[in-house]
This record gives sequence, structure tokens and C-alpha cells, in this order.
Amino acid sequence: MSRATEERKLKHLFDGGAWNVYEPNILNLGVGAPGTDLLESCCDIFQQATEHCLQHEKKENQSLIFQYGPTNGCFEVRREIATYLSAMYDSPVNCEDLIITAGATNGLHLLLSTLIDFQGYIFVDEFTYMIALDSMKHFTSLTIVPVKLNDDGVDLRDLGEKVEKHRFSSPNKEFWGMYYTIPTYHNPTGILFSPEVCRGIVQLARKHDFLVVCDDVYNILYYGERPEARLLAYDARTDVDYAGHVVSNCSFSKILGPGLRLGWLEVPPRIKPLLEGSGFANSGGCFNNYTAGIVGSLFKLNLAQQQIARFHETYKERMLATTEALAAALPEGCKMLSPSGGYFIWIRLPQPLDAREFLKYSLEQQKIAFIAGPRFAADGDSGKQFFRLSIGFHGKAKLADGARRLCQSLKDYMMSVTTA
Ligand SMILES: Cc1ncc(COP(=O)(O)O)c(C=O)c1O
Repeated sequence: MSRATEERKLKHLFDGGAWNVYEPNILNLGVGAPGTDLLESCCDIFQQATEHCLQHEKKENQSLIFQYGPTNGCFEVRREIATYLSAMYDSPVNCEDLIITAGATNGLHLLLSTLIDFQGYIFVDEFTYMIALDSMKHFTSLTIVPVKLNDDGVDLRDLGEKVEKHRFSSPNKEFWGMYYTIPTYHNPTGILFSPEVCRGIVQLARKHDFLVVCDDVYNILYYGERPEARLLAYDARTDVDYAGHVVSNCSFSKILGPGLRLGWLEVPPRIKPLLEGSGFANSGGCFNNYTAGIVGSLFKLNLAQQQIARFHETYKERMLATTEALAAALPEGCKMLSPSGGYFIWIRLPQPLDAREFLKYSLEQQKIAFIAGPRFAADGDSGKQFFRLSIGFHGKAKLADGARRLCQSLKDYMMSVTTA
């Protein structure tokens, strides 16, 4: 029976292959999802929130949660999210700017299909979220243009030159091009874009009128100081040349649970009616009206705030334990970017080592998996000297032990290559 037609009764996305994160014989350090220990408390709090929400629906809302929802999501839910975010960012978020989505993947698809000229250009960091690349590649008439990435964010000169070269006037869409990035705790590199780089991106976007899409799913997961501001805040509405070029695409996947399929876009007034008017959004109304209502209750009951705080604290401990173990044991010649938030640690091997070869060795010798750099490059081939580890899934003891074993395996591998 072919894989396509076989009913395999899978339980989760990573089920059914060598990458199964629940496979006891392999330590998979590649997966970007919260682990079982974090998710298990969801049942209790969601039970309470569901009870609260459905009581309200039955008594006071004509069960409208089961109706097609308003395209941008119910006001009460957006208000709960906006209040929470305003506190987390320490800067106001307007609930009128929010559009509820079925997660960041859904948000990106809506933006790509609605706002960008199909003959247009998508600028991406030379290493970027691999599945966003897969989504973009479905739009076969779009051209993906990788841009150099430095330790403090995208290389502004490279972005400026490439944008200048490709710019055109779109006859039928709001934007001729898009720059897609993850400015806060970047996937896969873990970096945080500096204020200078954020400012520079906004200046370029205004000058050349392209859309900046910030994939902000790790935004509130800071482990040291809260970042000064997110990229969206640099596109200030009080500026004389403000037009609205930046969108923040967020999700509850990493902070409450990916199975919810719930997120939100924060968009400028220029863009909101275009998204709300799209057939893709309008035909079904709110992308996930029922779950949004339950999560609204989760916030009203103060359960979401507590749960997110717990996730946040746990990730922080995991990141610290992993980076400490790596810093102590990474072989000479390897470089690690120590992130101040998010899920990912990006490691560079000395030339001419290839992380894809090391992955085979590591799986064979230690049964430890990770993702090699080329998966994050638009051409699928650049970046062979890098690999990405993720701290989201496993507990800190397992991560620290895994990091030590990985370093030992790397030492052995480097030795075997130099003596071969
Ligand atoms: C940068 C980035 N964007 C989006 C996603 C997926 O988000 P969602 O589950 O909200 O679709 C991930 C998950 O790994 C991610 O790392």
C-alpha cells in the first residue's frame, strides 16, 4: 500500500518515521515543539475554559461560537489577546489591528496569497524557517531571493541592493515584494535583530514599498532582558512618512500548544481591509472561531497567562542547561551563537566539515538527531557547515546530557575525519 493512501493512525506530526520525537532510542534535538511535560497540563485548564466559554455561549450568546465567525475574529477574544500582548511587549497593541488565524503558517499563506504580486519577489534570510520556504515554493511564479545574514540581523546593504534591483510597480496587488524574516530569536540561528537593523529594514521598506512579514512566534520567549522593541514598533504610526509596511505574524503554538491551530496577525490599517476582503478569509469567516473562543475564556480566567509563564520559565531553564553544556564541551574550532530567547541554537563547524555527514555519524554513534544547515537555505544546499538544535521538546537534564554526548560525538567525528 502506498504511503499516500495507507491509513497509519498517526498520533502527531513527528510520528511514523526515523524522526519520531517519542522514539526512545533516538534523542531528537531537531523538533521545534513543546514537549509532553508542558502539554499535559493543558487538559485541565482547557476543560475549565471550555466549561466557562460554553456556559456563556448557551446562556448569553445564542451559541454563536458555532456560527461562521467575524473574519478577523470576535472582538472579545482579540481584546483579551491585545491586553495580554500590551503587557508582554510593554507597548500598546490595538485589538482593531488583530486578525485571528489558524496559526502562523496559515497567516503566512494568507499574506502570500492576498497581498503579493504573483510575479513578485520574496526576500528571505540566507538561513530561514525551512517550512516557510516550502510554503513560498508552492507559489511557483514568485522568485525567492536569499539575503546575507549577520549576527545582528539581515545585511542591510545586501537587502537594499537586491530590493533596488528587482523592484517593479505591481499592476494588481498591494505589494510587488515581501521580506520574510524572524527578527526575534530567529529560526534557525537564534539571533535577535538589533535596533539599528530593524530601523534600516523599515527605512528600506518605506523607500521601496515592499511588505515586511515578521514571523514573531518566539517574540515573548526572552530569557534575559526584554528586547527593546519588536520590528513592527519601528514602523511608527507617528512618523511623517508612515504608510504601514510591517506585519507581525504570531501564534499560540509554542506558548499554549500547536494542536490548537490558533494565532493572530497584527497589521497596519492599510492592509487590514485587503485581508478581510480576501475570499480565502471571508468564505469561512474567522479561521478558528471555536478555539479562539475557548482561548478567550482561558485568558479571562487568567489560566492562559499562568500557562504561558510556565512554558516561558521552562524554556529558559532548558536553554540555559543546553548552552552551558555546549559551552563547556564544544570542540575547538566550532562556534555557537548563544541565544537570549526562543528555541534554537545554531552551531558552526570548522571548514570543511559537512553537518549532513556529521548527522549520519551522530545518528549511528550516539542516536542523536538535529537538523543540518542546508535544510534552512532556499537552494537546499548552502550552509553545510551549520546545524540547528532545539530546546523546546525535552527536559533540561536530557538536553544537557544530549549536548554533552553530541559534543563528544563531534570530537570523535572531527578526529576521524582528520585521521582518515
Ligand atoms: C519561525 C516559525 N514560524 C512558524 C512556525 C509554525 O507556526 P504555527 O504552528 O503557528 O503555524 C514555526 C514552528 O516551528 C516556526 O519556527
